Amino acid sequence: MNPLPIGVLVSGTGSNLQAIIDAIEDGRVPAEIRVVISNRPGAGALERAARHGIASVVIEHGNFATRAEFDERVVETLRERGVELVCLAGFDRLISATFVNAFPGRILNVHPALLPAFPGLHAQRQALEYGVRITGCTVHVVDEKMDHGPIVIQAAVPVYSHDTVESVSQRILAEEHRIYPEAVCLFAEGRIRIDGRRIMIVDEEELADRALVNPALG
Ligand code: GRF
Repeated sequence: MNPLPIGVLVSGTGSNLQAIIDAIEDGRVPAEIRVVISNRPGAGALERAARHGIASVVIEHGNFATRAEFDERVVETLRERGVELVCLAGFDRLISATFVNAFPGRILNVHPALLPAFPGLHAQRQALEYGVRITGCTVHVVDEKMDHGPIVIQAAVPVYSHDTVESVSQRILAEEHRIYPEAVCLFAEGRIRIDGRRIMIVDEEELADRALVNPALG
């Protein structure tokens, strides 16, 4: 199988980028990162790319008059590198309809909550303050609305009484690092069919009667 050419968009530390790099290098995901694009020159993610010999480009959003112009440059860069799947990994800009339409059904995002609960910023804090006992993370296909497109994969984690935003965020992030590479793998293996809001996964493995209950049943 030819590796799927992907592009990863980042703004920060890039721990999800690292998880994807590691999964590719270990041979778990048949993909190839053609380019990492950061809108912030100081992003730690850029060092991670360099350490693994992956090409990166900085496109500072502040240098563009409009979101559309910034997005056009990003799309152009992705196309030049032959990217077929775009992964937003801690990318802190909203993307325009033009960008979404340039890669229909081929842009993924990771969100630190079980969507549709707690979209938007500070999802971990929102979940903690709401008092949910279970939260988690979601990898979804990006559409024109924020944190909204069809869901590819989710992981649930418990929220404990002693949790802080930091502790619950760490628990969620560890799961992001497991599910994001898996989502890329499903695309790379051609096992994803998007049917309206629902995604059908070819040869899906089913969990037999397993549920996360929190607090645990006594
Ligand atoms: C994660 O919490 C992710 O859910 C959110 O941004 C953070 C990215 O962290 N979209 P990193 O840059 O991948 O470490």
